Amino acid sequence: MKTNIALIGFMGTGKSVVGKALAEKLGKTLVDTDSVIEIQAGKTISKIFEEEGESEFRKKEKEVVATIAAKKNQIIACGGGVVLNKDNIFRLKQSSIMIWLTASPEIITQRISEDGDGRPLLQGKKTIPEIKSLMLSRKKFYESAADIKIDTSELNIRTLSEQIINKLRENADFNS
Ligand code: S3P
Repeated sequence: MKTNIALIGFMGTGKSVVGKALAEKLGKTLVDTDSVIEIQAGKTISKIFEEEGESEFRKKEKEVVATIAAKKNQIIACGGGVVLNKDNIFRLKQSSIMIWLTASPEIITQRISEDGDGRPLLQGKKTIPEIKSLMLSRKKFYESAADIKIDTSELNIRTLSEQIINKLRENADFNS
């Protein structure tokens, strides 16, 4: 039985916000892969990209995912690129129901621009066509990892978390 919920999806799909609501409702611990990486590295994700490059970031991400996936009773908010690595997906799937959060490129573009400059992959790439093309190249990874898919474009946290909890109850592998 799986006691974790892993939230996967593109940047700006609401993983952290939805994760917080789910953790409160289900009495589970919220863990954010980016936050753990930042604490362990002693610097922000942007600084890691800038000083060490994306491949070092992905190595750190893989280690953090392996540690988190081995624990129980968590809501895991995954960085948008966690699914790019097959080992990450494999490990998460052992212990977690995978929930893929989506939103329209227009909404994502808007949310990302409101969030400021914390996303190194989007430096200088924040137009709707640019976001759309990156989303498209990621789609197959999310699709193959997901057990449940939820659109967060109309982000009403209460309705959304209820929707997710209902879907989880229908999933025979999930143990709350
Ligand atoms: C990334 C998403 C970010 C962060 C890093 C790379 C990605 O997390 O892990 O900037 O590759 O999509 P969020 O999805 O939480 O923004």
